[in-house]
Amino acid sequence: MSKPIYVLSGPNLNLLGQREPEIYGKDTLDDVRARCEAAAGAKGLSVVFRQTNHEGELIDWVQEARTQGSALVLNPAGYGHTSVALLDALKTLAIPIVECHLSNPAAREDFRRHTYVSLAATGVVSGFGAASYELAIAAAAGLVGAA
Ligand code: DQA
Repeated sequence: MSKPIYVLSGPNLNLLGQREPEIYGKDTLDDVRARCEAAAGAKGLSVVFRQTNHEGELIDWVQEARTQGSALVLNPAGYGHTSVALLDALKTLAIPIVECHLSNPAAREDFRRHTYVSLAATGVVSGFGAASYELAIAAAAGLVGAA
């Protein structure tokens, strides 16, 4: 059995479906989890799917993915724009990292145009709502040779 794809989401994404649905869509985080499990399952892969509002916990999970995961799909949410510590953690990983956003941050406020995560990411998927996660899983599956 291959290692799972870690799918980690950062702060405020627990409120998906209620939080600015005109930007982030109506799907809940549980809906996104189901879509990720289905997308990975179709390629014979499994996911570890988690969300946290806490920077340190997110970093602990990135470090866990370093040894336990085959790839990392990460929606860092607001921490992507602020956290050098998260970037430092990501730089310790040898596995593929797919940065993922529901919205297209490049088309929003100036402060969203830069993410520290992009400096460590293999690639970025953004702007497709919940489908961004499925596309990110497909990209990660391809990078681990399970496409
Ligand atoms: C987000 C975009 C970020 O700018 C924002 O802080 C989020 C969500 C997205 O998925 O579109 O919380 O990562």
